[in-house]
Amino acid sequence: MEWTKGMKCWIISFINQKGGCGKSTLCMSIASAISRRHRPDGVQYKVLVASADPQGTVLRWSSAAPDDKPLPFPVINLNASGDKVHRELKKFVDNYDFILVDTPASVSTIPYSALLVSDLALMPLIPSPPDLWSSFETKPVIDNVREINEDLQVRLVINRCQSNLNVSKEILNIVDKLDMPVCHSKVSMLTAFGEAAGAGTSIYDCKYETRRAAVLQIEDLVDEVFEILGVEKEEVVNER
Ligand SMILES: Nc1ncnc2c1ncn2[C@@H]1O[C@H](COP(=O)(O)OP(=O)(O)OP(=O)(O)O)[C@@H](O)[C@H]1O
Ligand SMILES: [Mg+2]
Repeated sequence: MEWTKGMKCWIISFINQKGGCGKSTLCMSIASAISRRHRPDGVQYKVLVASADPQGTVLRWSSAAPDDKPLPFPVINLNASGDKVHRELKKFVDNYDFILVDTPASVSTIPYSALLVSDLALMPLIPSPPDLWSSFETKPVIDNVREINEDLQVRLVINRCQSNLNVSKEILNIVDKLDMPVCHSKVSMLTAFGEAAGAGTSIYDCKYETRRAAVLQIEDLVDEVFEILGVEKEEVVNER
């Protein structure tokens, strides 16, 4: 069925001033999951990924895709948009169902700008005390944005979880201090995520041993994201 403009274009930004916590990885994996799903009218969701990180990780990921198997969504370069990311993003809202924005590991005006037009901020967190403490500076950015974008929702996403998803009490205490709701779905440390990036593919198309676990966890996370945003769920869901 041909795509026509849906009810709304949801914008999700991946933020955290802590480097290497999984912003780009979760951005690309969630984009792959959503672009395989369908709207209630049967039309496949149209997804756009926007790179607002001058490092250009998601652009390089997309460029690494084999010619005969490009990623199922475009990745655009907003790396030079600085504090005008929100203005650029608005130009695409009539042509997509979802825009996912990858932001840099800094407390700069870039994440702030992306959050101005976002419906949801997802903040990946590696469950180790040093990682958690260095995530604290991101909170004021969110608080500032909320003075303008009152409807912005925020969720922490525990990423690179080890030991069967057990998160220690110490970690949970620190997470509590961050004073932000945490997604129930957690993402484990799985080789499929790193391998997919290197091969320019998605976790759905990679052949690694941990593929299935990665897909299951991302599908759960997307279910939760849809619930948070109030996106109607399709009748036929992706493979599990
Ligand atoms: N759940 C995971 N399991 C295994 N490896 C992961 C996982 N999440 C991320 N990684 C790996 O961790 C590294 C950092 O991830 P990523 O680039 O997504 O972080 P980032 O927050 O975008 O970093 P930066 O702040 O530099 O932009 C990458 O090598 C990625 O493949
Ligand atoms: Mg990144």
